[in-house]
Amino acid sequence: MAEVTLDLRDLPKREAYDALQAHVDAVLDGVDDEIAGMATLSCLLHHAFGHLWTGFYRVAEPGRLLRVGPYQGTLGCLDITFGRGVCGTAAAERRTVIVEDVNAFPGHIACDARARSEIVVPVLDAHGQLLAVLDVDSERPAAFDADDRMGLERLVSRFARAHAAAPVPAATPANAHGYSDRVNHALAFAAKYHDQQVRKGLRAPYFTQPANVGLILARYDQDDETVMAGILRDVVEECVRDGGIADVGLERVADKFGAPLVDALRRVTQRRLDDDGVELAADERRDDLLVRLAGADERGRWVTAASALHDVGTLLADLARTDYPEAVWSRAAGGRDATLRWYRRMAERLREVGFAAPIMAELLPAVERLEMLEPVAPRRS
Ligand code: SME
Repeated sequence: MAEVTLDLRDLPKREAYDALQAHVDAVLDGVDDEIAGMATLSCLLHHAFGHLWTGFYRVAEPGRLLRVGPYQGTLGCLDITFGRGVCGTAAAERRTVIVEDVNAFPGHIACDARARSEIVVPVLDAHGQLLAVLDVDSERPAAFDADDRMGLERLVSRFARAHAAAPVPAATPANAHGYSDRVNHALAFAAKYHDQQVRKGLRAPYFTQPANVGLILARYDQDDETVMAGILRDVVEECVRDGGIADVGLERVADKFGAPLVDALRRVTQRRLDDDGVELAADERRDDLLVRLAGADERGRWVTAASALHDVGTLLADLARTDYPEAVWSRAAGGRDATLRWYRRMAERLREVGFAAPIMAELLPAVERLEMLEPVAPRRS
């Protein structure tokens, strides 16, 4: 089947994407070449759905310029600046953009006058860097929906996997030497900060939590700075939440570990006051954080995913070994339903803002496992 070009227009969308995914995987099995991958994907996607234009705009100058890559369809424009048109918007904001009516989208760049609707999906590499955007145009109005978004995001996630073995540029993986002075410093600082704290409702020391987040990040070969951010995440969140005198704490973290690290963490932790200085309620703080994830950098998103993965993993482990699931859920802020909803929204939001790093393939199934557990376990006699 690998050598044919499928036409999947007769299938319901989800089934079509499943079939296309299997086909693309088969054709590109063992191929670790971006251009070959983009060319093949454009061709198979274009013909599977009979789109008007299907192709990639590659990052030519990070944060500034996209340049046309492999595509199918009529002549595409060559260069698009970040922030311009649908492609430039998706690239600048690193999120999927669906446009139901291109004429209503400010700054839409019309390469083919027949285009009526459009979807653009960011393509990330194994290091979470923006590699390109995938642009699909249709002659039909409102041709794209959440199924397309899911199908396309999954198709392009191969670019984050294909080069997973490539070395991390200009950064030493934290676990390359099994020990890093800076990571050790962060561990010591967090251990001291969390010294008297215990996990909610338990006697276990709280510090294992940030230490484990650091371990998760090291397991994914993140650089020292990211592992340190994972370890110091809760320190920063607590300092911000407590405000006032705790700002001194924040300054100390910035002194010791650098202002960029504190800044990256502030963008991915809950805050007490909104932009206008108005105090946020607990549930508003969560909503506010999800919105702000769009403006977080890659390091912050890794820390967020690792921290959520750790929380979900801890819940799964605690629930597996208890006779009293209600007690486990009562320790989670807001109880079972609110907690499940929070981690689901968090995982989906990370995906929505274009975070397609390999850790997402661990986080999403973990959230699903948690959702599938019975609310109350049968009592053993
Ligand atoms: N419509 C796109 C430009 C690319 S082409 O349509 C091939 C945009 O507004 O970004």
